[in-house]
Amino acid sequence: MSSIGALPDPGLPITPVLVAAAGSSWEARALELLESRGSGVVLVRRCVDLLDLLAAAGAGVASVALVAPTLPGLDADSVSSLRRRGLAVVLVAAPEELLDGDTERLRRLGIDHLLASTELGSLVETVTGASAAAATVALRPPAVSSESEAVEVTGRLLAVWGPTGAPGRTTVAVGVAAEIAGSGREVLLADMDAYGGAVAQHLGVLDEVSGLLGAARAANTGQLSPERLGTLARQVGPRLRVLTGLPRPDRWQEVRPAAFADVLEQAVHLAPYVVLDLGFSLEADPVDPFGSSAPQRNEMTLAALQRADEVVVVGSADPVGLSRLARGLVELNILLPGVPPRVVVNRTRPSLGWSDREIRGMVEGFVRPVDVHFLPEDRVAADRALMAGCSLADSGASPLQGALQRLAHQVLGESGPSLPRRRRVTRRRAGRAR
Ligand SMILES: Nc1ncnc2c1ncn2[C@@H]1O[C@H](COP(=O)(O)OP(=O)(O)O)[C@@H](O)[C@H]1O
Ligand SMILES: [Mg+2]
Repeated sequence: MSSIGALPDPGLPITPVLVAAAGSSWEARALELLESRGSGVVLVRRCVDLLDLLAAAGAGVASVALVAPTLPGLDADSVSSLRRRGLAVVLVAAPEELLDGDTERLRRLGIDHLLASTELGSLVETVTGASAAAATVALRPPAVSSESEAVEVTGRLLAVWGPTGAPGRTTVAVGVAAEIAGSGREVLLADMDAYGGAVAQHLGVLDEVSGLLGAARAANTGQLSPERLGTLARQVGPRLRVLTGLPRPDRWQEVRPAAFADVLEQAVHLAPYVVLDLGFSLEADPVDPFGSSAPQRNEMTLAALQRADEVVVVGSADPVGLSRLARGLVELNILLPGVPPRVVVNRTRPSLGWSDREIRGMVEGFVRPVDVHFLPEDRVAADRALMAGCSLADSGASPLQGALQRLAHQVLGESGPSLPRRRRVTRRRAGRAR
């Protein structure tokens, strides 16, 4: 059902409003106020449900959405869709609907304007104020209040990415995370590969629930906090926690963009170092000519790279791997112009015939890297770690472990004596099951 309200006095700026009140008791009074003559507010549509609201928002006919907390499907993703379409979201709730902590949860959803249904007298003022604020404030990510932003020190986000062909992204992400943890820092290692998680297998974690999907679900209902994220991550070492990834590649669609941004945000509030294992593709899906915003598979990878403080690009040292690396560096430079990556060339071996200098020269022909690092082919150590279900740092000294330790040093901005060696542990995979 839709209705066009009475026209306001000429000369007043008009604020067009969509209402989706889900049958709340305050709706009739709110509609009356919005339709009252001379208010400067125009009721454009009374929407029957969230889909109706999103469709009307997509038509670009309104600047404010007035919603009820009981509107089915209202979550971080739908609020973010409304905000992307330029609408301010105002939520009206009965006092008994707002329990302790709900205000914060609603803010996490991206709702900035709350009004108690007992204060409907100021509805027009709230709606026009929200519209004006939305017009002047660029879209902000939800979840962090501005007071806390000013004083917060957040963790360092290290994104490990690399082109297709299994160049060793997970091996490097796990290895570097374990070495940083071994040097005495708290680390969260998060598997955010949109093509299926592998960190759990590398570390012998038998997680029956995916940490990433759990975190995304909590974020989508505005209930993710650093503490909650901490409980969803598995402690696999004294200072190393793991957020396990997608249990099946096809479940990437459950990680919606707004929720994913919140997961990243909470992650850097949980640990001083956050290492992300990312999927390979940077392709954006084709734009739908009909204007719908279908979920994009590589959104996670793209968003994580854009949010990262440092990007580590892993390529394989063989001819196919190097040409994929070169193409990957070019694509990355288009996505993040002017952001120098740290390049890791993995599985180097004498039989390939190239010197490190030659490979470095090739890399520098495509991008100006922070540095180029080389990890040797070390099948024995890589297999030992995989079979023991632990990181290379935990499976004893080896050429690959030593190179990963030096890489971790460089990432930490340290040089000099090597990090203390850690006790060799060979926990059995089943021993890690919850
Ligand atoms: N330097 C290396 N030497 C030997 N094997 C390696 C090395 N780096 C990775 N591997 C092996 O290559 C395979 C793919 O590595 P992985 O890290 O899972 O790749 P990706 O995450 O890029 O798909 C694994 O079996 C891993 O043990
Ligand atoms: Mg991987």
